[in-house]
Amino acid sequence: MKKIYIGIETGTLSIGIKNLLSPLQEIAKQQNYQVVETGGFGLYAYEPMIEVEHNNERHAFTKVTEKDLQTLLTDNKPNFNHSCYAGKTQDLPLLKCQQRFTFRRVGLNSPTCVQSYQQEQGYEGLKKALSMEPQGVIDQIKESGIRGRGGAGFPTGIKLQTVKDSPAKQKYIVCNADEGDSGTFADRMLIEGDPFCLIEGMTISAKAVGATQGFVYLRSEYPLALQRLTQAIENAYQVGLLGKNILDSGFNFDLKIHSGAGAYICGEETSLLESLEGKRGVIRFKPPLPAIEGLFASPTALNNVITLATLPEILLQGGKAHNEIGYEKSKGTLTVQLAGNIKNGGLYEVPFGTSLKTVLSEIGGGTRTERPIKAVQVGGPLGAYFPEELFDLPLDYETFMGKGGMVGHGGVVVFDDTVDLSEQAKFAFEFCAHESCGKCTPCRIGSTRGAELIAKIQKKQDLDKNLEVVDDLCELMEETSLCALGGMTPFPVKSAIKHFPSDFGIK
Ligand SMILES: Cc1cc2nc3c(=O)[nH]c(=O)nc-3n(C[C@H](O)[C@H](O)[C@H](O)COP(=O)(O)O)c2cc1C
Ligand code: SF4
Repeated sequence: MKKIYIGIETGTLSIGIKNLLSPLQEIAKQQNYQVVETGGFGLYAYEPMIEVEHNNERHAFTKVTEKDLQTLLTDNKPNFNHSCYAGKTQDLPLLKCQQRFTFRRVGLNSPTCVQSYQQEQGYEGLKKALSMEPQGVIDQIKESGIRGRGGAGFPTGIKLQTVKDSPAKQKYIVCNADEGDSGTFADRMLIEGDPFCLIEGMTISAKAVGATQGFVYLRSEYPLALQRLTQAIENAYQVGLLGKNILDSGFNFDLKIHSGAGAYICGEETSLLESLEGKRGVIRFKPPLPAIEGLFASPTALNNVITLATLPEILLQGGKAHNEIGYEKSKGTLTVQLAGNIKNGGLYEVPFGTSLKTVLSEIGGGTRTERPIKAVQVGGPLGAYFPEELFDLPLDYETFMGKGGMVGHGGVVVFDDTVDLSEQAKFAFEFCAHESCGKCTPCRIGSTRGAELIAKIQKKQDLDKNLEVVDDLCELMEETSLCALGGMTPFPVKSAIKHFPSDFGIK
């Protein structure tokens, strides 16, 4: 039976895709089509989007309303004259401009159907890993050059090597799916759209380090991701892809989901481990590193969703293939999540080295308000604000660090020329005060004092003196905070003052 595809994920649900589902099913039944609910492509400029299969190709209809559904099909084929018809899905400009590596299956099929996953080469990477020695798996990951996608960009191969080389009876794999950064949704989209890819990646990681138990620490605000991942894990157990003797290899791996505690700080790895152990989410001192003494004091490989979900493709294609994509020391692709005041908001997987300008103009299409872009914040709430003069920057860990910012988890939030960067600087301190775990003084107290200082600056009270105190405070927080929440809050503050001085009354 020919198929009609409809992407159901939190983003499309938020714009009412559910209203289209039952009328679509009715029409499909009449015309002998089967409706397949997929994860979404993350191309919100096209949503609500419906695809119709014809001659083994998928044809896209964009911005579809309930009324449009009636005329989507004619004579048992797509209505190519329909006003919503946008061409073959693979030729859609916002999809074609991407290099989908980690997300190559997202949007294609039913997310919780293991057979569909296997038809798209799912579990081929794990098969390879199970036929190799653990060191061979780690060598492939090292060769790929992949660095952690959670924010810090630490080389994944080195982390896994440390866990492998730490002797212990019990080791753990932990997936960080807390995704607290503002404007980010790649982890959610991956889990909602291709949960087996994460399960497979965690199993590969477990094989590499010798772990038998894994946990996904999943943000509690993601109910659909929880539902799909739960279903996928159940299905994987049923067909012998989790549990004992996976794929007859003699390798055992169990996987559980743990719902997050709703705090930004629980995304930081040591705080996450505390929370996973049932305690309050407070930062631990490092050392010891979690790779040596992590969950329940055992060696733990803790990685972000996207890092883990990239491993199956690395094993399948080989480390070298991944290493050949990207820019300088940033290998592979970055899943840019474009949000804020931008026309084509959504998820775009592009090679590292792509410029911010390409992302904002060619892909993003400029602001939704049609006003000039004044600033973009890259890398979540702790990322720097960049002005237009820096939009030629290539997306690369080192380049962004060199400019006082970070690529982070790939979130890009866009602001037009009506934004007041002094408000954003104040918000950075307020956010830190709200989310601080309270363990160290520079962050717990400094963040509140920082917000008060910016408020005084906004009122032009002792401008020069207060700007100097903010500068001192930023230096103190950067150098003495125990973790990156306090340590990097100065990034948005300092960049806002440096690049947009007039918003602070500086002549
Ligand atoms: C305040 C704070 C919040 C963080 N939140 C997240 C998060 O939500 N998801 C994530 O993967 N990493 C987060 N991180 C980074 C983690 O501590 C850790 O570096 C990462 O999960 C390691 O995985 P990776 O090597 O695959 O990036 C956060 C760090 C800090 C300081
Ligand atoms: S910097 Fe803030 S969040 Fe981090 S340990 Fe100190 S008080 Fe806690």
